[in-house]
Amino acid sequence: MKNILVTGGCGFIGANFIRYMLEESGFTGRIVNADKLTYAGNPENLTDIALKSSTRYIFEKADICDAKTMSAIFDTYDIDTICHFAAESHVDRSIAEPDAFMRTNIIGTFNLLELAKSRKDKLNLFHHVSTDEVYGSLGEQGFFTERTPYDPSSPYSASKASSDHIVRAYSRTYALPVTISNCSNNYGPYQFPEKLIPLVLLNALDGKSLPVYGKGENVRDWLYVKDHCIAIRTIMQNGTRGETYNVGGRCEKKNIEVVETICDVLDELVPAQASRRGLITFVKDRPGHDLRYAIDCSKLETELGWKPQESFETGIRKTILWYLKNSEWVERIRSGEYQSWILRQYA
Ligand code: NAD
Ligand code: TYD
Repeated sequence: MKNILVTGGCGFIGANFIRYMLEESGFTGRIVNADKLTYAGNPENLTDIALKSSTRYIFEKADICDAKTMSAIFDTYDIDTICHFAAESHVDRSIAEPDAFMRTNIIGTFNLLELAKSRKDKLNLFHHVSTDEVYGSLGEQGFFTERTPYDPSSPYSASKASSDHIVRAYSRTYALPVTISNCSNNYGPYQFPEKLIPLVLLNALDGKSLPVYGKGENVRDWLYVKDHCIAIRTIMQNGTRGETYNVGGRCEKKNIEVVETICDVLDELVPAQASRRGLITFVKDRPGHDLRYAIDCSKLETELGWKPQESFETGIRKTILWYLKNSEWVERIRSGEYQSWILRQYA
């Protein structure tokens, strides 16, 4: 791997991945980040990296659905590896407005695969970043393995499932060198505050209500974002071409437990007049809400030697401290100011 094209690198996981690759992983090549800068893409997540690593980090504002622009990026920077994060990623938005999910997650991925196929002689790897939500919902027992049949519930997970199938088809039909990772719920620095953990954290700081869907009994398996980034790097480097790897934290929590933990850590770090648990409000459930996700990641652990470094207790504390320290980033996101900052930079 010398020249990696990262798609969606201005989003939550992509930005953490680029930061990890350039600063900690030992990778010595160059990263080209192609991102459309939707509402979820924020180049400010990488401002320091752009300054410190100006020869090893390049940003291109680009839509993965735009075949001509993506081909030009591939050729200009002599790309040999693709790590594909770009997606519409929020389940609630996919229920309200599914169009962009189908376009970016399905057509955008197809477009990148066509590009990869046409440059196959130059391509070392196409790594596709996906989600455990493709497997649908578990009952009280059991785990998702790499052989669990796909059964997606939301437009988001159905669009990601579709993209996974197309990636696998290109591997089998055209012998494209691919790997796929299906990861559980991530949390950590730079997550857009529409997802459960940053939304609850910031509302709790402001004394606003903390919306918990249904009874808060849905279970997610939480993984600190840097552990996901290390897993992706491990798979890209040592994974078997054509294979899928599940990634998870072995960290199942009911949503209500997550929300209560955030309240308790905040009460300790930033004492308030009353416990923030009092802000918890049970609201109407999400339609098609999957009950439980739990990942069996033993393939990744035994074959490639990965295991998460953070527990939920250490990871959530780091995350809360990051949001407390980065109040300017939070304010710009919430005021919508960074959208105009983007327009000034890249108009
Ligand atoms: P995010 O919403 O924070 O970021 C998505 C990024 O993609 C943004 O920077 C956005 O501008 C960019 N983008 C969107 N449409 C684009 C397009 N058409 N062309 C180019 N760029 C575009 O998402 P995230 O949480 O960082 O997720 C990244 C990937 O990881 C996604 O593929 C998602 O399905 C997957 N994933 C996420 C989680 C999670 O918990 N967040 C878990 C498992 C897998
Ligand atoms: P979310 O962060 O949207 O991730 P995903 O839907 O991809 O798992 O939601 C995580 C869980 O938290 C999910 O079960 C829905 C629930 N949830 C709430 O209870 N309240 C909220 O305000 C949000 C955004 C999510």
